Amino acid sequence: MRVPLVAGNWKMFKGVADAVAYAKEFRALAKDLTAVELVIAPPFTAIHGVADALRNSGIATAGQDCYWEKDGAFTGAISAPMLKEAGAALVILGHSERRRVFGDTDADVSRKIHAAYAAGLAPIACIGETLEEREAGRTFEVLDTQLKAALDGLSADQFAQMVIAYEPVWAIGTGRNATPEQAQEAHAHIRGRLRAWLGAEAADKCQILYGGSVKPDNARAILQQPDVDGALVGGASLDPQGFFQIASAAV
Ligand code: 13P
Repeated sequence: MRVPLVAGNWKMFKGVADAVAYAKEFRALAKDLTAVELVIAPPFTAIHGVADALRNSGIATAGQDCYWEKDGAFTGAISAPMLKEAGAALVILGHSERRRVFGDTDADVSRKIHAAYAAGLAPIACIGETLEEREAGRTFEVLDTQLKAALDGLSADQFAQMVIAYEPVWAIGTGRNATPEQAQEAHAHIRGRLRAWLGAEAADKCQILYGGSVKPDNARAILQQPDVDGALVGGASLDPQGFFQIASAAV
């Protein structure tokens, strides 16, 4: 049985004070929600404060990206060891906003995944097709390419710590979520590829999250799908009550 995982990706929202107040409130709300792994990914500036406020709560803190070098003259970049030191246990990599707005390629995502492992962070690797790719019937091909790049060069032990997030680009921030059937179809495809490439045991253990307009009122139907093991929540994770409702729907 896979333990469900629900992660909140705050994107570029919340300063330190707001983030820490949220973490304290959410910690109290979720204190009995032990059947779900919970993760909060604040902006870089709030990671330390949020991780501190969540210490010993069982709720993990994640970065939203990292650079692949450990340190050096890379103005504006944050490395995986820096995230780790600030209190992060995971890092979201390959998010479609990073790919689209900041130009991250599959090769960049792969380098970042390796840097995350080297620093002791578990990657949440994001893959997903655009609307144009879906309408052209290329969804599975796009997922395969992105997935293959994310898995490139990983050992079995490393893969065992990886979380995969399926986020159809057309469902992100649009209010148009994938139907439970569309999510299940993509997740089953991803798990099938993992089974073929890495074996049944590894595939059956891997947590595959759905992301894209998950809200308190649609979470349960999506999370009930057999191959959907949790959610990566954007906008609806900004409110602690709403995020708690979504997390509760994963039980
Ligand atoms: P929304 O939940 O706001 O659609 O964002 C999804 C997402 O990108 C999570 O990483």
